[in-house]
Amino acid sequence: MKDMTRRSFIATSSAAAAMMLAACGGSKSSDNSEAPAVEAADGEYTLVEAGKLTCISNLYFPPFESMDEKTGEPVGFDIDMSKSLAEHLGLEANWLASQAFDSLVPTIKAGGTADVAIAGMTITDARKAEVDMSDPYVDSNQSLVTKVGSEETLDSLNAAEKKIAVQAGTTGADWAAENLPDATIVPLDDIISAMNGVLTGSYDGLVTDLPVSSYQIKNSFTELQIIEEIPTGEQYGIAISKDNPGLTAAINQALADMADDGSMAEIQVKWFGAEL
Ligand code: ARG
Repeated sequence: MKDMTRRSFIATSSAAAAMMLAACGGSKSSDNSEAPAVEAADGEYTLVEAGKLTCISNLYFPPFESMDEKTGEPVGFDIDMSKSLAEHLGLEANWLASQAFDSLVPTIKAGGTADVAIAGMTITDARKAEVDMSDPYVDSNQSLVTKVGSEETLDSLNAAEKKIAVQAGTTGADWAAENLPDATIVPLDDIISAMNGVLTGSYDGLVTDLPVSSYQIKNSFTELQIIEEIPTGEQYGIAISKDNPGLTAAINQALADMADDGSMAEIQVKWFGAEL
């Protein structure tokens, strides 16, 4: 019921914004692409583009987000979640092109490009200092991965001549820096290149989120193996600008509704075969 109020309010405020634009005569494009942010009333929120939840991510992190090989469209758990989230808010999810993972928080902080970053992004104090993080929606841990047949261990990999690939700016990169201090850590743009590099022998190992390594090893990188599951106890959240606290509140409400009405469970089962 609360939800209905919220939805009708948003519909009204977007319509009002559209009328304002029309009245100003400043909008040449009918697709709203140059529309200014929708002005929020008290307790409500602004959007980069009216009627849309504009999302950014780094689309090399299956099964949370990747690009469909045929269509080039983003697919994955986070994409499905964003669609349901948007629907619960009376909006439509709109995904922008993939960008570097370590540029996501700065982009959200700067404002104007996207409303949210949804990227299997671990809630950390450092990120919370820059942006708001929503309530958690998935639990995660880290993993240390090598090629099948390799005899490397956590200990043996901690040596200067060993190359450990990570994705730049991730919690996996932080873990590797702390726990493999003597190894040569190689920060890459994406973890798929890291996986290919371990296969071809460019790297001795890699560190990434356990749900991602498990999924990839099961579905495509069958010649890789997890040698350590690292219980970091991470939780993923959605990054939102600190200037938009109404959106954080609305997203947290929608996440709670999705847990209650079974939509979150449905997406978990679709991508992980079980509720998480
Ligand atoms: N959970 C890790 C972090 O927050 C890795 C996230 C990487 N996500 C991505 N879409 N590439 O640092």
